[in-house]
Amino acid sequence: MDFFDIIKTRRSVRLYQDTPVEPEKLQAILEAANIAPSAGNLQGYEIYLVTRLETRQALVKAALGQEFLAQAPVSLVFCANPQRSSVKYSKRGRQLYSVQDATIACTFAMLAATALGLSTVWVGAFDDDWVREAAGLPADLLPVALLPIGYAAENPAPRPRRRLQEIVHRE
Ligand SMILES: Cc1cc2nc3c(=O)[nH]c(=O)nc-3n(C[C@H](O)[C@H](O)[C@H](O)COP(=O)(O)O)c2cc1C
Repeated sequence: MDFFDIIKTRRSVRLYQDTPVEPEKLQAILEAANIAPSAGNLQGYEIYLVTRLETRQALVKAALGQEFLAQAPVSLVFCANPQRSSVKYSKRGRQLYSVQDATIACTFAMLAATALGLSTVWVGAFDDDWVREAAGLPADLLPVALLPIGYAAENPAPRPRRRLQEIVHRE
């Protein structure tokens, strides 16, 4: 698929088949995340890979009952590593760059998954401490996004967007 087809056809999917994700596809998704840009190339983020059903069920609880997190065979937990970014960028690294680094890495993973015929949904609604507990994160990491990955069992219509004229403020 051409890049613009990938970004146009991506949808948030909240219903998954139980078909496993092929290991080579998962590897390609993780490698895509790893080539995302980051502040000072510090890569101030960590990725936790969740496949065990018990952990996926714990993520459902942590994400306030979003059941598809247990349905999708794999979830990635993207975490900011504020300490890592603060070494070079102090407060700005700790508060902003590490979160942006994790966000961009998750975006690359999301688009790579789409390119490979897989589906995802960005999950941001969760309790930080419950996610830490569910996925075994150390206290100094901030979970930024959960990304369930799997084969879609639904085909959602595109959601509307704001008009460009409303968003873009030309000088
Ligand atoms: C920061 C962020 C947080 C989100 N959190 C959730 C979430 O917790 N649960 C969910 O089902 N979708 C979540 N979404 C997905 C959005 O609802 C979705 O991207 C939006 O409605 C547009 O639909 P589309 O992705 O199909 O284009 C989130 C998306 C973003 C970018």
